[in-house]
Amino acid sequence: MNPTYDFTGQVAFVTGAASGMGLATATAFARAGAAVTLTDVDDDALATAGAGLRAAGHQVLTVHCDVSDEDQVAAAVSETVATFGRLDLAYNNAGIQSPTVDAADEPGAVFDRVTGINLRGVWACMKHELAQMREQGSGAIVNCSSLGGLVGLPGRAAYHGAKHGVIGLTRSAALEYAPRGIRINAICPGTIETPMVTAMFDSGDLDPAQAAADEPIGRLGTAEEMAAAVLWLCSPGASYVVGVALPVDGGYTAR
Ligand SMILES: NC(=O)c1ccc[n+]([C@@H]2O[C@H](COP(=O)([O-])OP(=O)(O)OC[C@H]3O[C@@H](n4cnc5c(N)ncnc54)[C@H](O)[C@@H]3O)[C@@H](O)[C@H]2O)c1
Repeated sequence: MNPTYDFTGQVAFVTGAASGMGLATATAFARAGAAVTLTDVDDDALATAGAGLRAAGHQVLTVHCDVSDEDQVAAAVSETVATFGRLDLAYNNAGIQSPTVDAADEPGAVFDRVTGINLRGVWACMKHELAQMREQGSGAIVNCSSLGGLVGLPGRAAYHGAKHGVIGLTRSAALEYAPRGIRINAICPGTIETPMVTAMFDSGDLDPAQAAADEPIGRLGTAEEMAAAVLWLCSPGASYVVGVALPVDGGYTAR
C-alpha cells in the first residue's frame, strides 16, 4: 500500500521513538534500510523497541534523551554520529499532551513543561542536527507539529501555542538551510490512535466517537500513516518540498 523507499547507507535520528508515531517512523526508516537512533525518556519502552528492531536485523542505537535538556540532545546527536558516522534524516517527534483547561486557570508550570518539550525540544534537536548536516551539506528534517499548529481549540492554548511555534521554527530554519542542501518540513497530524490519544480517551478529555466524527474522513489516523508522510518528506520524491506544514489529518483542517 505504501511506497517503498531506499535509505540504505543513511542514518536517521528519531525522538520520542519508543511509542506511537515515533516508533512507527523509526521502524519504517529501519525497514527502508537506514541505520536508526531511537531516543526517548521511557527507558523500558526504548529498550523493548530497540530489541525488536535489532531482532529483525536492523542497525539500531538507543539513547536516553529528554529533548527539553539541550545537553542530552547534543549528546544523543554526537553519539549517533560517533556510532554511524553521519546524520541524514531526522524526525523531531517527542511531545506531550496537556490537560484541557480554561486559559485563565493554566498553571505556569504546565505551560513551561509543554513548551519546554514540544517547542524548545524541537528547537534543540534541529540546532544539533543542523550542526552536523551543515558539515555534510545535506540532510532532511521533519518536525512534528499538529492540527494544533494550524488551528486553535478552546482549552488547548498551551499545546496549540507550542505546536504553532514548531511551524515558525520549521519555516525560518527551512529558508536558512534550503540553499545549503538541507530540507526542513513539518507534519501536522490530526487525531491519531496512539497511546497519547488513548490516554485522552481514558481521562475524558476526548470522546472517541466525536474524535472520529470530527475528521472528515470519518476515522482516526494511524501511526503508520504519519510515518509514511515523514518518509516521503525525507525522500528524494520530496526533493522540491521546503518549509511546508503538511496536514496529515483526514481533512480536519480543510474545513
Ligand atoms: N496522537 C495524536 O493524535 C497527535 C496529533 C498531533 C500531534 N501529535 C504529536 O505527535 C508526537 C508523537 O505523539 P504520539 O501520539 O505518538 O504520542 P506517544 O505518547 O505515543 O509518544 C510520545 C513519545 O514521546 C516520549 N517523550 C515524552 N516526553 C519526552 C521528552 N521530554 N523527551 C523525549 N521523549 C519524550 C514519550 O515517552 C513517548 O514515547 C507528539 O509531538 C504529539 O504532540 C500527536
